[in-house]
Amino acid sequence: MKFGFFDDLNKEYVITTPETPYPWINYLGSQAFFSLISNTAGGYSFYKDAKLRRITRFRYNNVPLDLGGGRYYYLYDNGDFWSPGFAPAKKELEYYECRHGMGYTKITGRRNGIETKITFFVPLDYNGEVHKVSIVNTSNQVKNVKLFSFLEWCLWNAQEDSTNFQRNFSTGEVEVKGSVIYHKTEYKERRDHYAFFSVNAPISGFDSDRESFLGTYHGFDNPQVVARGESNNSVADGWSPIASHCVEISLQPKESKELVFILGYAENKLEEKWEYQVGEVDTDGLLLSSVAPNGTNVINKKKAEEMIAKYATVKAVDQALLELKDYWDKLLSKYNVKSHDDKLNRMVNIWNQYQCMVTFNLSRSASYFESGIGRGMGFRDSNQDLLGFVHQIPDRARERIIDLASTQLPDGGAYHQYQPLTKKGNDEIGGNFNDDPLWLILAVTAYIKETGDYDILEVNTPYDNKLELAKPLSDHLKRAFNHVIENLGPHGLPLIGRADWNDCLNLNCFSMDPGESFQTVTSKDGKVAESVMIAGMFTYIGEEYAILMDKVGNNEESIRAMKEVENMRDVIMKHGYDGSWFLRAYDDFGRKIGSDECEEGKIFIESQGFCVMGKCGLNDGKAQKALDSVEKRLGTKFGLVLNNPAFTRYYVEYGEISTYPAGYKENAGIFCHNNAWIMCAEAVIGRGDKAFDYYTKIAPAYTEEYSEIHRLEPYVYAQMVAGKDARRFGEAKNSWLTGTASWNFVAISQYILGIKPEYDGLMIDPAIPTDWEVYQITREFRGDRYDITIVNPYHVSKGVKKLVVDAKEVEGNIIPVFGDGLEHKVKVILG
Ligand code: BGC
Ligand code: NOJ
Repeated sequence: MKFGFFDDLNKEYVITTPETPYPWINYLGSQAFFSLISNTAGGYSFYKDAKLRRITRFRYNNVPLDLGGGRYYYLYDNGDFWSPGFAPAKKELEYYECRHGMGYTKITGRRNGIETKITFFVPLDYNGEVHKVSIVNTSNQVKNVKLFSFLEWCLWNAQEDSTNFQRNFSTGEVEVKGSVIYHKTEYKERRDHYAFFSVNAPISGFDSDRESFLGTYHGFDNPQVVARGESNNSVADGWSPIASHCVEISLQPKESKELVFILGYAENKLEEKWEYQVGEVDTDGLLLSSVAPNGTNVINKKKAEEMIAKYATVKAVDQALLELKDYWDKLLSKYNVKSHDDKLNRMVNIWNQYQCMVTFNLSRSASYFESGIGRGMGFRDSNQDLLGFVHQIPDRARERIIDLASTQLPDGGAYHQYQPLTKKGNDEIGGNFNDDPLWLILAVTAYIKETGDYDILEVNTPYDNKLELAKPLSDHLKRAFNHVIENLGPHGLPLIGRADWNDCLNLNCFSMDPGESFQTVTSKDGKVAESVMIAGMFTYIGEEYAILMDKVGNNEESIRAMKEVENMRDVIMKHGYDGSWFLRAYDDFGRKIGSDECEEGKIFIESQGFCVMGKCGLNDGKAQKALDSVEKRLGTKFGLVLNNPAFTRYYVEYGEISTYPAGYKENAGIFCHNNAWIMCAEAVIGRGDKAFDYYTKIAPAYTEEYSEIHRLEPYVYAQMVAGKDARRFGEAKNSWLTGTASWNFVAISQYILGIKPEYDGLMIDPAIPTDWEVYQITREFRGDRYDITIVNPYHVSKGVKKLVVDAKEVEGNIIPVFGDGLEHKVKVILG
């Protein structure tokens, strides 16, 4: 069953009912100001950092679902009131539609002959959310309605905001000036920053105190001010500050009016010192604010006034919307496929790339499953996210690489996470996830292949954010590579540390004391658990490092690295393969994990993917055998489960993985992230049919058909779908912020459709279903455009028989870099 449809022409998903199986959200903003917005306008906004600069309040895990806060509108018409986005009033609408597009959301709702369409977006280079509200009187009578706006301010630090009430209830400060409501509560540092909510029309009333607006015992569904049709003009003093305007609108039959609301954020930095300024600078270089003689906080409103003036007219707003559209059209045109399969086209050309931008921006911080206060930027996560984003805005990828590498530790390991605002490694979480450093190498090689910018290797980059420890980025890669081989276990396989990619496989972290948490207790033994997955990653990514060293002329290092990689392949085949598939690990006692010998968890997906991508067992059929085992043991109609059989009880020596009920999350859930590794592995061994079949099992455009089972947004990937052992088999959780986005983009764009950036050009190496006849790709690469037609007359999966570039045949399968900024016609014949 579907709850909407794709409008590919407009690059939108159109939701036709407010009661989707779960809130289906979108993201606004892609630079510094971000918002989450659901299909009924729930969600919140923040500036740069969802924890430290939260602008509006949102209650996670609230009841009813998605009524934890939003930018809400209410229409009041002669004793009746409703919300055009359905929530929060939840009065029946004659018509409802939500269009989630690229960086904007449009919600339309009609009742009593009044149709209201609200377009929400964050303009480019703008620290605010703009709402264009269009109201049409579709009836034959004159209508005198009142429009009430509403949002609730968060007191900046979202964690404090939801915990420290003894303080918060006394700090709230607002100021109302004309049609602008300023939120100027200060956080402890007394920064000179503020948020505002404005409308470009005179208001007949306002409210800024929540209780006055709602009534002490009423909710967002029934605010007393709206029910009465009359604002209280309340000025918040402590408690919970909000912003609500009331605009009176008179409409002749068929007449329409348009308004512009702006939710903005402004901060005054030291150089913007102004006359009231008496403060000092806080840790972020922001001015501490000044305090007026009566003890109230004085803010410099100049920035807000400029921001409001910029979008004072609907014309300016429409222009900004066009610019946003143009921006996205350009970004998305860098990789474009035309095939016989509409679902494939819309995934590749629109939604997968869009999700890659969102994951690049937000890592694992803020979604409807990540609270914005739990996690910031992940080292492994962000490096992987970059793989699906680097072709879009390489400069931002470059900056991110340096940020990430700056948190690397001098021993080559890495802080597992950092907070986006401070960009400093998170001490509480620390490091010791031994896969982390390798992802940096993968990100850097992907960046250089995309851009040809070898200079990045020379950038002097701190370790542990300490400038005095700075070394060229190439040194970071070397230490990352060495970190693996300097930490080998008894079988010569890499030590796993706290965990590798699978955060929940905690083989050194056990305690026999049931009172203790598995995450904080370390092994009482030697911590010698080893990871075959890291070994596989090392053969794949270590070789990338060796090739890069060769490219930059460091032959000695390249040869050394290659030797280590080949050695690791031998070790894997000797100690890491058992029966018909790759083992997953050895635990701290030297026992096999992911072996037929095990009672449960006999086979795991991760090592199969990476060992094959790392060319282990390619020549003796073992790779193929491992992938056959994957299909047989892990395959389901909704995708591949992570391990099998699922753990049915808690095993202290396995850690968190066995704490999940069978079929959920890392315990035999369908982890969409690593399904992509199997697609890549199948492509490596040339089985395009299987690779593509796995692709279609989890790609949202294909799962849209059964949205009632899947339940999450049919336009973006979720991290996990409940596996075959789960009662809710096929149901997804944790949409949006997942490495699934970038890896599936890598799998489809590079491994299956086969357009791979390489140091010396674009490699053409498809692995497609044999029944495909032809498809076309346009790819922007280092300033040139390639228009590539791939034909498959012999119905093969893999193998380039002929490559013709600009009417000239080229040897091999690499399209050279021309660097002339022109379009080049490429014809590829498979066979
Ligand atoms: C989840 C993992 C996640 C980790 C983050 C675990 O509870 O199962 O998927 O990576 O938390 O800390
Ligand atoms: C989600 C985390 O963000 C990611 O880093 C991890 O690899 C997977 N879960 C698997 O545990």
